[in-house]
Amino acid sequence: MCGIVGYVGDRPCRDLLIAGLEKLEYRGYDSAGVSVISDGEIDSVRAVGNLANLRAALAEHVSGNGGVAVAAPPATIGVAHTRWATHGRVTEENAHPHGDCEDKIHIVLNGIVENHAELRKELQAEGHEFSSETDAEIVSHLIERHYHGDLAEAVRGAFGELRGHYAFVAMHLDHGETLVAARKECPLIVGLGGEENFVASAIPAFLAETRRVLTIENGELVTVTPEGATITDAEGHPVSRQEDEVTWDEDAAEKGGYPTFMKKEIYEQADAVAETITDRLPGLDGVDLSGVALDDEFLRNAERLMIVACGTSYHAGLVGRYAIEQWARVPVGMDIASEYRYREPVSRPNDLVVGITQSGETADTLAAMRLARDGGSKVLAITNIMGSQATRDADAVLFTRAGLEIGVAATKTFVSQVAAMYLLALRIAELRGTLPPERISELIAEIKRLPSKIDETLANVDRRAAAIARSHKDQRFFLYLGRHIGLPICLEGALKLKEISYIPADAYAAGEMKHGPIALLDEDTPVVCVATDSPVLDKVLSNVEEVRARGADVIAVATEGSDRVAEVADQTLFVPRSDWMLQPILAILPLQLLAYYIARENGLNVDQPRNLAKTVTVE
Ligand code: G6P
Repeated sequence: MCGIVGYVGDRPCRDLLIAGLEKLEYRGYDSAGVSVISDGEIDSVRAVGNLANLRAALAEHVSGNGGVAVAAPPATIGVAHTRWATHGRVTEENAHPHGDCEDKIHIVLNGIVENHAELRKELQAEGHEFSSETDAEIVSHLIERHYHGDLAEAVRGAFGELRGHYAFVAMHLDHGETLVAARKECPLIVGLGGEENFVASAIPAFLAETRRVLTIENGELVTVTPEGATITDAEGHPVSRQEDEVTWDEDAAEKGGYPTFMKKEIYEQADAVAETITDRLPGLDGVDLSGVALDDEFLRNAERLMIVACGTSYHAGLVGRYAIEQWARVPVGMDIASEYRYREPVSRPNDLVVGITQSGETADTLAAMRLARDGGSKVLAITNIMGSQATRDADAVLFTRAGLEIGVAATKTFVSQVAAMYLLALRIAELRGTLPPERISELIAEIKRLPSKIDETLANVDRRAAAIARSHKDQRFFLYLGRHIGLPICLEGALKLKEISYIPADAYAAGEMKHGPIALLDEDTPVVCVATDSPVLDKVLSNVEEVRARGADVIAVATEGSDRVAEVADQTLFVPRSDWMLQPILAILPLQLLAYYIARENGLNVDQPRNLAKTVTVE
């Protein structure tokens, strides 16, 4: 989730650009950069680390006489960027802006160019020279390829060749009053000033300067000059757009107009999963984990997988275990990292140990991974954070790319971890030939549909979850019941409720209920049941009947069209139909919202619940 901001107008732009980047810091980043046109040249400064480092690099650049333009007030056009590394390490060379061969075109990009490898090869064959490992640099060279004097036309030409989801802004030395930007999926907003205009990945970047905005839609390009902004479609046909007035205050703007970070992040889940999967599922015939440094031969022959994790990450691992065992037929062990590290686990050279950790810094997970490595196993880290300790300790890393999560309750990082586990499971199945190719294609097609189904689910269940929360906000205890893949979703749903609403909750394998917990049930106990379509649905429904026989109130999560569930439950939250093994990514959404609204009904701060820290630091 990189941040981009561009400015063209009549004011010195360096400080405006850096101020814009500061407002995008919440998205998370590991390096930053800024380019401006001044004195007949493009002057660019980049730095690894935070914006203080970029400021220091700028100061040094000026005092060392390395350049005048970035420091000198006359520069009135520029682009700036905060990078969250996806392709290529965290280095100054990989930081944006990126230039073309003649250093006349500079671009900043947010998102992922899926066909970067083939385009890079083509461009290299034509003589283009690259100076970074990024997918983004392709864009400046592609614009160069299409440039014959008209920047907008060149950007349109480049846009037509790119696949993926991204938004970028380009400027050209010979067009000192023009920025051209394009949007494919990732957000892009123009901020309209007087004799100046902005273009950015999010409104906070320019909200201190203007509240008049134009939203660029998917598949559109925009040419921005000091006089205004012209939008076209991908063929160059003009598109008219109504200007909007932003009414949020700055605090709300950081939250994208949502009342809390948690709600915003719940609504970012489609994007998070899209980021996890896109370039790794280039077609329908297989999973591309080439960036992960896992040896195919090893994956083909590993005797066992062992998953270690804490909290929400552990629940994602549980879902992953079902997928790996079912699709790839490899035995999978699971352990809570704080348990694994203090027993004497047997780790063997032919084991793959998977440490799942959003932060990459959780002490118990890191210790468990090290222990496994010392025992001779190969260790794969699944993490969201570039440069975290887990990435340094592991043999291989699969990044979830969910973007920075500010709310303490893990939401979007959970669904992207589950998606990453699906990718791993399918890749192993592919290598071992445990699923027919048609089944792999079918599953890939379904995984690719998950982002839009996530949006659909949220749109469908939000109000209903809020209403259920209102009627249950005073309840003193909740029981969550599920079987198979429904069980980790219950564990995660109950964890969300405990974590942010402080209401006691327990989650149980529904088949275990008769062995004790059934004693807890009476008319005052709401029972949340994950009853999505699956081969164990009949069993789950029998458990629902048992619960109802004790007078408990049943809140069920069911697959759309599953009337059998609606008939026995008191309240039903429907999620769209998908392959049943993929349902967890959809089924968790109503449970996140339920926990969220119960906490809010009770007036609690869901972003920073008591006694919790987002990152557990290394011991
Ligand atoms: C903390 C967080 C949880 C998270 C757990 C593991 O308890 O509050 O949301 O699931 O740590 O964190 P990790 O970064 O290792 O996934």
